[in-house]
Amino acid sequence: MKLYHNIGKLYTPRGFAAARGSAMGEIEEIENAVILVRDDGTIEYVGQPPPVPLLEKEGEVESIDCRGLIALPGFVDSHTHCVFAGERSLEFAMRAEGKPYQDIARMGGGILSSVQHVHSASIDNIVAYSKPFVERALSLGTTTMEIKSGYGLRAEEERKLLEAAKRLGEETPMEIIKTYLGAHAVPQNVPQVDYVLEVLEKQLPALHTMAEFCDVFMDEGYFSKEETIQICSRAKAFGMKIKLHADELAETGGAATAVELGAYSADHLLKISEDGIRALAESERTVATLLPITALSLRVGYAPARKLIEAGCAVAIATDCNPGSAMSENMQFALTLAVIGMQMSPMEALTAATLNGAAALGRAETHGSIERNKLADFVLYDIPRLEYLPYHIAVSDVVAVIKGGKIVEACSRGF
Ligand code: NIG
Ligand code: FE
Repeated sequence: MKLYHNIGKLYTPRGFAAARGSAMGEIEEIENAVILVRDDGTIEYVGQPPPVPLLEKEGEVESIDCRGLIALPGFVDSHTHCVFAGERSLEFAMRAEGKPYQDIARMGGGILSSVQHVHSASIDNIVAYSKPFVERALSLGTTTMEIKSGYGLRAEEERKLLEAAKRLGEETPMEIIKTYLGAHAVPQNVPQVDYVLEVLEKQLPALHTMAEFCDVFMDEGYFSKEETIQICSRAKAFGMKIKLHADELAETGGAATAVELGAYSADHLLKISEDGIRALAESERTVATLLPITALSLRVGYAPARKLIEAGCAVAIATDCNPGSAMSENMQFALTLAVIGMQMSPMEALTAATLNGAAALGRAETHGSIERNKLADFVLYDIPRLEYLPYHIAVSDVVAVIKGGKIVEACSRGF
């Protein structure tokens, strides 16, 4: 057992399911807290220092002084495309000159240029390129990260990406959850119908065991509602869980389709309709995952977080880390934008980045809050209070990152 003691203040959402609506703002605060971690990495006790007999009963306890720092749950970044093999900063500069994302994509840039990078890279190259992003995410407080394929667009290339994502989980302390996103774009010079058939008949049968989730970019110029339903129904028949890119570029009924499909999340939602909001509010399972770094980077309006929360939805935030629309692995920055750009409170943003991110990955029972029996995934910050985290813009005050009870990153100040 390990005892992390002398935590100045611990903040955590509570619960084993997503927090919805106004419950998102309910954060437990414990002054002078301790976390007692079992040898299997789960939490035995969290709260004020336990009576000595409890500790004596546990036999040998290794004691770690947290020096009055603030503890928060590790972030669960539930939407990233963090397996890629090249950057697109020249497109970023073109967007700065006013060229829209969709126009760049039509010129063969966008997703298809990342596809070129992947096609000319080996699995080793992809791992080497992506690993620093995963390591930086960890040092910025993320302890669990979803990674999507989607820059391969052929069975053998998508396999490379999923294999690389698996290796990132093995070669770093980050816990990685894999999503297959073959339906991310249609390859150049391939008719749309042929590609959908390839996903259905070739990619899904070949790759379904390599990923837990299947995602589709359902949007204008990408995949239609009918195609999305076809692909997701086949994925479900293979036992996969569903996530959707929904209503990002245009409102195409993505949110309601995600609910219909029993998806764990509907993501982006920049253009969501009132009907879409209602569908998500009524759904038991589907989390509304918002990606404010993407809205900032594409220079479009943020998703209507307040409306979603007021309607009673479960809202998560994630980075969307990818080389096109969101070149950032920094969940702290996503929190800052959630507060400044989407008018979420710091408490709501914390719930969105932890417990609700876990729910968007079907892991709210084990991840996303500092509670008895959950994994001991938490981060120590040198900040005076929770509100300081989104307030201190684009700078990290992380001192140490603890994953499954082990210190996996000691960033500064000699911890
Ligand atoms: O989530 N929307 C689709 N996919 C990514 C963008 C991918 C890219 O531009 O490479 C996103 O924003
Ligand atoms: Fe995305």
